Amino acid sequence: MTVSVRSFAKINIGLRIGPRRPDGFHELRTVYQTIDLHDVVRMKVAGGSGIEVRSGSRGVPTDESNTCYRTAESVLRTLHQRAKVTIDIEKKLPVQGGLGGASSNAIATMCGLERALKKQLSPEDRLRIAAEIGSDVPLFLIGGTILGIGRGEQVYPLAEHPALDCVVATPEAGVSTPAAFAAWDRLADREAKLTDTSKSSTMNGFSHTVCAWLRGSSSGVPSRAGDRAEALLLDLVRAGIENDFERVVFPQYPELHDLKRALERAGAKYASLSGSGSTVYGLFASKMEAKKAADRLKAEGIRAQATRTLTRREYWRRMFV
Ligand code: C5P
Repeated sequence: MTVSVRSFAKINIGLRIGPRRPDGFHELRTVYQTIDLHDVVRMKVAGGSGIEVRSGSRGVPTDESNTCYRTAESVLRTLHQRAKVTIDIEKKLPVQGGLGGASSNAIATMCGLERALKKQLSPEDRLRIAAEIGSDVPLFLIGGTILGIGRGEQVYPLAEHPALDCVVATPEAGVSTPAAFAAWDRLADREAKLTDTSKSSTMNGFSHTVCAWLRGSSSGVPSRAGDRAEALLLDLVRAGIENDFERVVFPQYPELHDLKRALERAGAKYASLSGSGSTVYGLFASKMEAKKAADRLKAEGIRAQATRTLTRREYWRRMFV
């Protein structure tokens, strides 16, 4: 039996990095948002045993380190199943791009395998396996707008807002997440020596800014969809939601900072690095504005696509091809 699954991407709307924890991970606060760009993961289950991962794309490992391989192994073990599983990854999302491609592939494998085997994991097992695979894997078990805390693996569904038009710009260069965290540690050490301020205050501030953003746009809701999007984006800018990774990634990759400026010049109401990059996205008040901006960036030789954010309901409705 073959099952095909759309493996959607995410962006981060704001990301606060806290201190490094004893386990080596950093405490995080972020809002994840799924978007309508995806890979396709195809799964074939047959008699026998073994897991085989295939992909025609450069940069996608096909050995046991692949998130799909690790997920399939955990799912089979947890369900006490024996099968020959073949996983084909049609890669359209950038590798090391900050869009959560490999993490999303893991959940596509989990959901696809459950369907192919006609067996279900308990919700606890799903979340446990997802968190073992990576910090930004569990968010794909929720979809839509999600609060991420802990090392990013503790996830809570947030109230949803209407879909927003978005332009995603993906430069060639990938950014290593562990290297970006290490650069953050060096910056935090330097600043702590200078100011001696408590790091936890900025972490607590994140909940206030997110609350101000999502509460602000629900009060006095304008009736037209376009006006609603405009108000939501205005509140987002007003709340001052930012991605801490920009402070260490932009100095190292000035072209990504230029990309953020280019999106703003092209009319983005809000633009930001996603995760540790290298993807930079912009949010727009209308589909037409997003399309015009993407065309303008493409004319400048930048790889850019117009897309939209994906609500939780759409995420689940469109998951199986
Ligand atoms: O969890 P994941 O495998 O995606 O993390 C990759 C690497 O990123 C970790 O090994 C760690 O170096 C870094 N990381 C971190 N703090 C987090 C998440 C990831 O330091 N909250």
